[in-house]
Amino acid sequence: MSGDKVTIVEVGPRDGLQNEKDFVATDRKIALIDRLSDCGFDRIEATSFVSPRWVPQMADAAEVMARIKRRPGTVYSVLTPNLKGFEAAVAADAGEVAIFGSASESFSQKNINCSISESLERFRPVAEAAREAGIRLRGYVSCVVECPYEGRIEPKAVALVTAALIEMGCAEVSLGDTIGQGTPDTIEAMLDAVLAVAPTERLAGHYHDTNGRAVDNIAVSLERGLRVFDASIGGLGGCPYAPGAEGNVDTLKVHDAVAALGYATGLDRAKLEEARVMALALRIRAPS
Ligand code: HMG
Ligand code: MG
Repeated sequence: MSGDKVTIVEVGPRDGLQNEKDFVATDRKIALIDRLSDCGFDRIEATSFVSPRWVPQMADAAEVMARIKRRPGTVYSVLTPNLKGFEAAVAADAGEVAIFGSASESFSQKNINCSISESLERFRPVAEAAREAGIRLRGYVSCVVECPYEGRIEPKAVALVTAALIEMGCAEVSLGDTIGQGTPDTIEAMLDAVLAVAPTERLAGHYHDTNGRAVDNIAVSLERGLRVFDASIGGLGGCPYAPGAEGNVDTLKVHDAVAALGYATGLDRAKLEEARVMALALRIRAPS
């Protein structure tokens, strides 16, 4: 409903930068996160505690978490695929950790080197550890409409993984259109299945903008009651295991679209523009 708050979760420093081929200097990552903190986000996904052999760009996760200036009121979250990542996240004082599964078997294998059911078993101890430590747990489901390796994904496959993540204790499950192929029709069909197993307040939309449809997909999700959307400053990114995928929808674009519909975001638009300029500069590579 117009007047409601829409929470934009800034994922650019993680989902955006993880895909940059050239290593982005740690100082520049920190400067970007500090600039984003000034914008007033409730949550910033700052980095990932994953294998540096799989995603070398995130190898400096501990240093990033140690050196960012933490704004009171902002939760700094990180990806943690296993207990090793979780322990590093706790040592780094992460405010939220995220486990990340998939509705596609092939993507699960390519991204985290195991099947969907194996991934759920691996996430369980992370979920238990997060509960014991009192750290908020987020879950991701990738490939909610299409997979780069096996094409169309059935909505019921998304619902199954979502239900498992919620049962495990995820406060929120973020629904990833990993390669940005969703349309309002396919997103609605997917949400119909997911809303049969999860309440709207436990769901977030994570829409990549490969085909420029992410804002339309957010609009149908708003109609279904979702109020949390992930976005990436300057549209940075993609996924290293999703060839051809563009970044998450640009934060400024989401801000303007939801503001035009009458929702409040709590973000400072002028500061978002400054952060966007900084993010886009990170993409300019030295000529090879
Ligand atoms: P594996 O090779 O099967 O795991 O990888 P392993 O347990 O055999 O470990 C292999 C090596 O990695 C070992 O080191 C471990 O110590 C190390 P070695 O002995 O060979 O030197 N290792 C770690 N190091 C640091 N932190 C850790 C960690 N775990 C193991 N946490 C694993 C399995 C899950 C670790 C690997 O596949 C991985 O790290 N994958 C990460 C993939 C990734 O980050 N993808 C991008 C994020 S997901 C995404 O972008 C989608 C999303 O945006 C939503 C959407 O858009 O759909 C979230
Ligand atoms: Mg993503």
